[in-house]
Amino acid sequence: MSKLAPVLSAHWDEADSFTLAGYKRHGGYNAAMKALAMAPDEVIALVKDSGLRGRGGAGFPTGTKWSFIPQGDNKEHYLVVNADESEPGTCKDMPLLMANPHSLIEGMIIASYAIRASYAFIYIRGEVVHVVRRVQQAIADAYQAGLLGTNIGGKGFDLELVLHIGAGAYICGEETALLDSLEGFRGQPRLRPPFPAIAGLYARPTVVNNVESIASVPAIIEYGNEWFQSMGTEKSKGFTLYSLSGHVTNPGQIEAPLGITLRELLELSGGIRAGHTLKFWTPGGSSTPLFTAEHLDVPLDYEGVSAAGSMLGTKALQIFDETTCVVRAVLRWTEFYKHESCGKCTPCREGTWWLVQMMRDLEAGKGTPADLDKLIDITNNIAGRSFCALADGAASPIISSIKYFRAEYEAHLTHGGCPFDPIASTLFATAGRA
Ligand SMILES: Cc1cc2nc3c(=O)[nH]c(=O)nc-3n(C[C@H](O)[C@H](O)[C@H](O)COP(=O)(O)O)c2cc1C
Ligand code: SF4
Repeated sequence: MSKLAPVLSAHWDEADSFTLAGYKRHGGYNAAMKALAMAPDEVIALVKDSGLRGRGGAGFPTGTKWSFIPQGDNKEHYLVVNADESEPGTCKDMPLLMANPHSLIEGMIIASYAIRASYAFIYIRGEVVHVVRRVQQAIADAYQAGLLGTNIGGKGFDLELVLHIGAGAYICGEETALLDSLEGFRGQPRLRPPFPAIAGLYARPTVVNNVESIASVPAIIEYGNEWFQSMGTEKSKGFTLYSLSGHVTNPGQIEAPLGITLRELLELSGGIRAGHTLKFWTPGGSSTPLFTAEHLDVPLDYEGVSAAGSMLGTKALQIFDETTCVVRAVLRWTEFYKHESCGKCTPCREGTWWLVQMMRDLEAGKGTPADLDKLIDITNNIAGRSFCALADGAASPIISSIKYFRAEYEAHLTHGGCPFDPIASTLFATAGRA
């Protein structure tokens, strides 16, 4: 297996990679023209057979999702692209949109044609003003070139593309909260069923896909399934963008076949920063259970990560070395989830508040070892018992950090606070970390 698979990121180092001319120089929009010459169902079948799975977190097969849209129902269908990207550590959709926005627009033409939608939306997080401007320009250029609007490429297909700028709420990345927000309501998750494929935006059949999922489609149409399936593993096909952040020598995005390991990704990014060692990491953002140095060789595909007890999520690898206090890091994430809880359901609204109080006490060295069991009990009463997956995400770092670093939590209690020497970061080691 080749260690790198630059497809979406192949031309990011070119000065004009984000322009229409730069995109077209490498065959941009050929795939859209090819798809528009096919029957919509053929396009769906091709994407289904490719094995492409959603890159937004859950890994749901993209073509299968498209095939759920009822056909011949005389209703308007919509495509909505999720560009909210708010999961801590996740940094792949925004760089992709900055460097290669036309891959998303081309993918949206193909996907909209396949599901028979004549309106498509990008829901983008409001704080990323520079990305918003870039995408706005790319959309304007595509309209001017006849690639959006009426009779696209002279093929008789019409598509209007709307860029919607959100106000910056993590919950608006959850697809049904996103749809409510797009409709002008407060962004809170909807009860399912009905699923968006039946009653989504404005109660019409809607596909919601992540930026990277849709941007991956043109290459599949252009080069075919055999090429796509030559990368990745048995059930997790193709290339994907991993984002590495934290204590690595060269943080950033690495595009590689699914199934690469953290050990290999670290080799590609210069390793853990000089003089330090890996302590813990997230395989898919802060809502996925933590891993440790034991997991360096876990294949980073949907099955491999889940067999090892976590989730591939957004492939956001946040790397922490031995200078990091795991209790403090988990407290920060817990504060994030409490802040972003939308308040719709009691276990999450009240529970995340309590989690923060307990984590603050533990970090300050207040409490007893029995409080750790109480903390686990509370997280178990939140995860799986709340309205949406935000609450599960809040529980994951706590449960997994206690599983791997219980001794470090206990050391906070015996030490009466954080046992780390922030400069030498040795005190804890000499205090006998297990
Ligand atoms: C709290 C929460 C936040 C989410 N944030 C995002 C996000 O920022 N971007 C995204 O694509 N999916 C996000 N998701 C997942 C979406 O609900 C949805 O599964 C995804 O957009 C589907 O796209 P895909 O099938 O292409 O992966 C989030 C889910 C939850 C529960
Ligand atoms: S789990 Fe949290 S974020 Fe999700 S609906 Fe309930 S309160 Fe809102």
